[in-house]
Amino acid sequence: MRTVYVNGDYVPEDQARVSVFDRGFLMADGVYEVTSVLDGKLVDFAGHAARLERSLGELDMASPVTMEDLLEIHRELVRVNGIDEGMVYLQITRGAPADRDFAFPDPAVTPSTLVLFTQSKPGLADNPAARKGMKVISVPDIRWGRRDIKTVQLLYPSMGKMMAKKAGVDDAWMVEDGVVTEGTSNNAYIVKGNTIVTRHLGHEILAGITRAAVLRFAREAQMVVEERAFSVDEAKGADEAFITSATTFVMPVVEIDGVALGGGVPGKVARRLREIYIEESRKAAV
Ligand code: PDD
Repeated sequence: MRTVYVNGDYVPEDQARVSVFDRGFLMADGVYEVTSVLDGKLVDFAGHAARLERSLGELDMASPVTMEDLLEIHRELVRVNGIDEGMVYLQITRGAPADRDFAFPDPAVTPSTLVLFTQSKPGLADNPAARKGMKVISVPDIRWGRRDIKTVQLLYPSMGKMMAKKAGVDDAWMVEDGVVTEGTSNNAYIVKGNTIVTRHLGHEILAGITRAAVLRFAREAQMVVEERAFSVDEAKGADEAFITSATTFVMPVVEIDGVALGGGVPGKVARRLREIYIEESRKAAV
């Protein structure tokens, strides 16, 4: 049985408890991070910790522990659960006040809730899906306007995944004002020649930690990066496409709305960036 972390305690998963009054449960009033684990070490913990602090700040929410404490908790969970490849999920909510109330509780009276758990995913790096590539459909992006904050409001992304499943594909890219924002749980890219195009940062998308690293590696490898919006039509005419996230790294996309890209097989830019990303992440993991 897994050991999970809840508000200061390491407990067996079947003994972990959060109040029914927790605002994460009642109002999705919480933020989260997913950090991947390679060779039993954390990939880009510093990036995830920095984004977490930003998410908390934007929502005026306090962290119950320091980022140094969080690193130790991550490491301890990876160790006790024997995770070689997988991920650590972290969630902080605005805690459990005495009653349901829309107004934020006083943080001096109601401490935040902190939960972490691990998921083992053998084959995360040597993922057969990366050799095949994935298929996506486009769906309207009807999420709220602050997607740069990594909140636990994931109902629409879940619905997007279900729409993809129903259509017999792997995931969905969301479209707003005629352009692609991002994937349901990842950032979206297209490639034309030597140029990689991905949506510029803003309130419309999450600033992926994997995105930042991959764009840095692409520029270092003399690839051209354009951070701008692109339409589904432009994507359908691209040479290749891919997504990035902590749990998929760089994953080739070979079909958009039924249109095959690059002959329906993973493109060379996506394959190369995946290799570089995994290699560099292994080296820098802590
Ligand atoms: N999702 N965009 C959205 C909407 C996301 O949910 C995610 C991550 C990303 C990529 O961010 P990063 O590279 O920092 O993982 C972009 C995580 C993995 C999840 O919800 O499981």
